[in-house]
Amino acid sequence: MVPSGPLKRASRCAMDVLILGGTGVISVGIVHQLLARGASVTIFNRGRVSARLPDQVRQLRGDRTDRAAFERVFEHSRYDVVIDMICFTPEDAGSTARAFGGRCAQLQLCSTVCTYSTQVPPQVLVDEAWPQEPETRYGRDKVACERVLAQAAAQRKFALTIVRPSQTYGPGGPMLDQLEIDGVAWDRVARGLPILCAGDGLGLWQALHRDDCGKLFAWAALNPRTYGEAYNATGPRVLTWRDYHREVAAALGARARLVFAPAGWLLQRQPARFGFLRDVSRFHGAYSSAKARAHVPEFMATVGLEEGARATIAALRQRGGQRDGATDLEYQRLVDAALLAGFPMEHA
Ligand SMILES: NC(=O)c1ccc[n+]([C@@H]2O[C@H](COP(=O)([O-])OP(=O)(O)OC[C@H]3O[C@@H](n4cnc5c(N)ncnc54)[C@H](OP(=O)(O)O)[C@@H]3O)[C@@H](O)[C@H]2O)c1
Repeated sequence: MVPSGPLKRASRCAMDVLILGGTGVISVGIVHQLLARGASVTIFNRGRVSARLPDQVRQLRGDRTDRAAFERVFEHSRYDVVIDMICFTPEDAGSTARAFGGRCAQLQLCSTVCTYSTQVPPQVLVDEAWPQEPETRYGRDKVACERVLAQAAAQRKFALTIVRPSQTYGPGGPMLDQLEIDGVAWDRVARGLPILCAGDGLGLWQALHRDDCGKLFAWAALNPRTYGEAYNATGPRVLTWRDYHREVAAALGARARLVFAPAGWLLQRQPARFGFLRDVSRFHGAYSSAKARAHVPEFMATVGLEEGARATIAALRQRGGQRDGATDLEYQRLVDAALLAGFPMEHA
């Protein structure tokens, strides 16, 4: 049963929220937005990721893959909202349902836009009604998580809200390029070296700063309009990969020189390395978040890509996480081969 009692929807709101995760890229954005709403925030994680969070955030330590211990931690707990940021398999979802069924009013699941088919809809932007026929194991498992939790919600164990982000970036995480999630592209751009881009760089993409993404979770909390709903969480702008590379390069005070090679050519040479290109970025990645903005008007993107990328890459460099582009000879050999094959090089 959904715990009874008044639902406390208000701009500032004294609610108890638990985040499974809590120190990750998106989680930190959610924590800040929830605190701004006046919520009491508890996070649960293993304590491996260090994130500077305000002192009032309560921290619980544990590993969710130790199912029995995880479920015992919450046996006698009650939260208004539980946000599951680390649910990747139906087994995770089943464990979440057991741990929090009847122990929270609302369960928010962080899913992904990778749950959708990669076909392009007639109106181009993928909305929440688009078929969930994912390309990847990751996407298929997330669909399974959604279904397990939807079943628990149908049994009135909690109200379920599903959020499906696309690329969400921010300090503490990587700054992806079209080929790699955590690659050498930005270090090469900073050094004035050309980088690889698939096709003509005209594939569509969206990027959202984690502080903006955090607003959707935080303002969907105890908002009855969001119960039983799923939302794409993307920025309002649709970019081409040329736009994306140009704006992130500008954050470095540089111009990106792009060598355009067909995706198939790149994947033939580096199938394992360019898994992100193979599974995700060779397809259009453009989604409508109109429904999220209609139901949760506070979900407004205010952090520009250049500004957000600047802080993200600065944090990456500060913690020594930026891969060295100058010594990556494999990448350079690929650039040389692409130029030798006659593929064009242009400024983004
Ligand atoms: N960023 C994107 O572009 C994007 C796009 C679509 C969907 N998503 C979804 O966003 C979610 C990730 O959210 P995020 O960015 O906040 O997280 P994140 O950066 O992936 O960090 C993971 C968080 O979970 C904790 N954690 C990991 N394994 C754990 C375990 N076994 N037990 C307990 N805690 C554990 C980590 O801390 P410890 O390591 O210290 O435990 C950390 O707090 C995922 O569900 C992902 O599918 C992200």
